[in-house]
Amino acid sequence: MNILLTGAAGQLGSELISLLTTYGTVFATDLSKPHITVENFTELDICNTNELKRLLEQSQPGLIVNAAAYTAVDQAESDRETAFAVNAKLPADLATWAKQNDAGLIHYSTDYIFEGSATHPYVEDDMTGPRNVYGESKLAGEEAITNSGCKHAILRTSWVYSSHGKNFVLSMLALARKGLSLKVVDDQQGCPTWARNLALASCGVIESWQQDPATPAVGVFHYCDDRTLSWYEFAIQIFRTAVKAGLLQKEPELSPVPATEFPTPAQRPEWSVLDTSKIEETFNIQAASFDQAITDVSNEISNREQKS
Ligand SMILES: NC(=O)c1ccc[n+]([C@@H]2O[C@H](COP(=O)([O-])OP(=O)(O)OC[C@H]3O[C@@H](n4cnc5c(N)ncnc54)[C@H](OP(=O)(O)O)[C@@H]3O)[C@@H](O)[C@H]2O)c1
Repeated sequence: MNILLTGAAGQLGSELISLLTTYGTVFATDLSKPHITVENFTELDICNTNELKRLLEQSQPGLIVNAAAYTAVDQAESDRETAFAVNAKLPADLATWAKQNDAGLIHYSTDYIFEGSATHPYVEDDMTGPRNVYGESKLAGEEAITNSGCKHAILRTSWVYSSHGKNFVLSMLALARKGLSLKVVDDQQGCPTWARNLALASCGVIESWQQDPATPAVGVFHYCDDRTLSWYEFAIQIFRTAVKAGLLQKEPELSPVPATEFPTPAQRPEWSVLDTSKIEETFNIQAASFDQAITDVSNEISNREQKS
């Protein structure tokens, strides 16, 4: 089977590249080259419809894994057009091609499609109500895929981080290394998720589809790692493991503050917690350990820094 992986240089895409080779020949694409060496890589603005069509015709994927996304949540408020091109039109085009060519599509969405004032972990059928343009564009992408009727799994996730890319873990480490005392938001709760664990969950879906090609389970599924934390509590865990991994000599001074102390262009939900029961019941995919994930990521960063 040929597999088309978009967003191959991103946090999730970089984790998927090597894992996907188990299931077929991977054709990878992104705006720029990934930091790891990849065969069959095409550098491309995937919103260019003709170029996308050419890539699809050339690679003839039996499976499309769409890890490309416009993830600049605040920037999306003033760049609605690009956010919708990447997060809504691209998934729609991929889904149309998948439907016409009998291919499967794995796509990713976000906790930010919810309004964020629930008092229970969100289940897949809960009412949506995005508070920002990013969330609106991701919801439009979900709807286009669902309506296309193609074989699909939409994995909604939250607070993604990894040892590379733009994420909260690397931002916190950079600030702590400046020796500053830090204020971190304590009234937004979510489930930090290591990109590798999301990639492994995606592999679980692929394996299930391979085992049951006649009646594959399709739909929207929530996947996140197993802890609910505020950004402040997440920062505490980051610094604890960073000290253990030798990335910091000591933990910085940290104070909890309300989100109103850091006004941002995009509003964010206070409650971003996803219930992962459905993915567990459907595919036997369990939420992975946050404690293990943050330890592994700290060690990865440390190993990389020691090598360079
Ligand atoms: N990050 C989070 O906290 C988070 C939370 C919930 C859900 N998600 C979802 O999880 C999925 C993976 O997120 P991630 O954190 O891995 O995102 P990411 O690191 O931002 O990766 C997305 C990749 O897509 C690329 N891309 C953007 N526009 C493109 C275009 N026009 N043509 C080609 N490539 C383009 C980006 O390139 P550039 O970097 O050069 O723009 C980037 O390499 C996404 O669907 C995202 O919405 C993420």
